[in-house]
Amino acid sequence: MNIKSRPIGVFDSGVGGISVLKEAVKGLPNEDFIYYGDSKNAPYGEKSVDEVRKLTFNVIEKLLDKKVKAIVVACNTATSAAINEIREKYGEVMPIIGIEPALKPAIELNREGKVIIMATPLTLQEDKFRSLMEKYEEVADIVPLPCAGLAEIVEEGELRGKVVCDYLQDKLNKYKQEKIAAIVLGCTHYPFVAHEILNIVPKETPIIDGSDGTVRQLKRKLQSRNILNDKEEKGKVEIINSLNDDMVDLSFKLLNYK
Ligand code: DGL
Repeated sequence: MNIKSRPIGVFDSGVGGISVLKEAVKGLPNEDFIYYGDSKNAPYGEKSVDEVRKLTFNVIEKLLDKKVKAIVVACNTATSAAINEIREKYGEVMPIIGIEPALKPAIELNREGKVIIMATPLTLQEDKFRSLMEKYEEVADIVPLPCAGLAEIVEEGELRGKVVCDYLQDKLNKYKQEKIAAIVLGCTHYPFVAHEILNIVPKETPIIDGSDGTVRQLKRKLQSRNILNDKEEKGKVEIINSLNDDMVDLSFKLLNYK
């Protein structure tokens, strides 16, 4: 098969990376995608770095068996734990794109107040985030907010209602009296509950995630290797999930979620 016609592999610990896939389908409508959600092993964000690395390499092998031409690690946690190792091993052969908390665009908004970064405990404790934070802590009031358990709520499909509201209130209530410059969603599961976050903090609070930047980078990399799909019809999306078909159904539901 001509390399240009091969699919792009996208993966996450579960259904969260669908928030990135959604942007990718919008930005690259003629590409085919294979999404792998590792819900059987979710959450990654509360595991050790070694465990996450092992799981990540397992998924990558599965995507390589599907003859993908590029891989998007649509998981902040797996990116912070394993992106260097993945690039070392496969970076010559194909573009490997990761995602990280979109701190820079949040700070560039130049709004007064705290920049709250919601992410998994593992993402926030890794070196990658620490160096990102060091880069900006002089110019912004950055508050890392570990959200253990939030990705699981999304995995359950609980995007509205008491469970998610109580969880978010518990995390965010203490910042309600303060100025919030922006909230950065540093986990790909969280964009699916952004509307509930806006029920707690002031409605005008910018909520930023990294999917846009990740898709732009994917496009650049495909262009520079001259492997963009040149077909004219719309691309296809295949979804695989390590847990069961219900998670595949939930993934398609999230892909069409407004
Ligand atoms: N969606 C993943 C991320 O972007 C993590 C969720 C999990 O803990 O598995 O970090």
